[in-house]
Amino acid sequence: MDHFQLVDGVLHAEQVPLTRIAEEVGTPVYVYSRATLERHARVFKDALAALPRTHVAFAIKANPNLAVLKVLASQGFGADVVSGGEIARALAAGMAPGDIVFSGVGKTRDELGYALDSGVGQFNIELEEEGAVLAELAAARGLTASAALRVNPDVDAGTHDKISTGKAENKFGVPIDRAAGIYARLAALPGLEMRGVAVHIGSQLADLAPLESAFGKLGGLIADLRGAGLTVSHADLGGGLGVPYKAGEVFPSPAEYGAMVARVTRGWDTVLMFEPGRVIAGNAGVLLTRTIRVKRSSNRDPFVIVDAAMNDLARPALYGAWHDFDAVRPSGRRMTANVVGPICETGDTFAMGRDIDALEAGELAVFRTAGAYGATMASSYNSRGFVAEVMVDGDKFAVVADRILPEEISAAERVPEWLA
Ligand code: LLP
Repeated sequence: MDHFQLVDGVLHAEQVPLTRIAEEVGTPVYVYSRATLERHARVFKDALAALPRTHVAFAIKANPNLAVLKVLASQGFGADVVSGGEIARALAAGMAPGDIVFSGVGKTRDELGYALDSGVGQFNIELEEEGAVLAELAAARGLTASAALRVNPDVDAGTHDKISTGKAENKFGVPIDRAAGIYARLAALPGLEMRGVAVHIGSQLADLAPLESAFGKLGGLIADLRGAGLTVSHADLGGGLGVPYKAGEVFPSPAEYGAMVARVTRGWDTVLMFEPGRVIAGNAGVLLTRTIRVKRSSNRDPFVIVDAAMNDLARPALYGAWHDFDAVRPSGRRMTANVVGPICETGDTFAMGRDIDALEAGELAVFRTAGAYGATMASSYNSRGFVAEVMVDGDKFAVVADRILPEEISAAERVPEWLA
């Protein structure tokens, strides 16, 4: 459920008509609903309520906007981060350092040092060498870093190849059959407290079975580690729960996910950690866009050319992803069209031959489910700027990220003297 609904024929975000945001802020613009974010956070927490000890860290990569993080921090969420930049954002949003989990396959020494100095609560180690560097940096500071070992369970998540992370050929985690040895060696290093194991097999999962299989393997590993006399007090189950991108699609609910987790982890006696991203933020945002022109030729579907492009919302171009596309003032008439942006490549296509609300030049529309992996994946390709972001709260809204103009981007460029 989200808060982007038609009221008197006009699409609203909560109580604010999107026409008003377009007038005042311009388009394209990302629009987030605070009520939807809070609702999704609550539903996720409720789904875990039966589990004894839990920790939820929002995967900041899905939506790192500071206002979004502030909302989730107030819901008691920590942060799953993958870079120094994301650590800084989590801290700026007021998240407790101890509630931050530092994931990522290529953490640099600088980032590890910064995380240690910031008091980050858990490091998810992706390979033995990384653990050794972390131990050395921590010991040199007189600190002990709490860490989990991320394992690769070799499970096919059944999602798009580019967002699948738990197969043996993926770059993530240590092979599960080598994990016990690595864990034992890392646990012996001064500066490191190995406290758990972690797994994340991919994103936009439509089925709970692969997760269940991965968690089952993790449970086996926990038993093996304890059998070898090692301590395991934490198990990080990652994120990955999928969301509907098409009206009418049904995905496993957080409640079903929670019930599955309860079943698989019974008797583990660990803190269970979660890193949801998309399921919290995806349907809490839309990308509001204006039709620039409709290009008609005799015997083909027309092109609805909108002012948003692949640089603003990369998912369709990158993954062939579907985003529902709806008029802000639907007339009731329909058309079959190709929805494209203004960028100079054919990849800048949001939909082909799709049945959509009829649109003419100047009319507004939204790409739905754009609250996760939307603005955060933007680029300035074709020397376009970065889109503004707005958050709605009831009948008010605020710009939570300024539009960054092309000239602001080029202001960071320099022509060397020898070219002047
Ligand atoms: N934890 C780890 C270690 C991750 O790598 C990810 C996502 C998450 C948690 C959050 O997963 P979620 O709950 O959002 O599925 N740009 C792609 C998605 C990439 C996901 C990367 N990792 C997209 O637009 O579909």
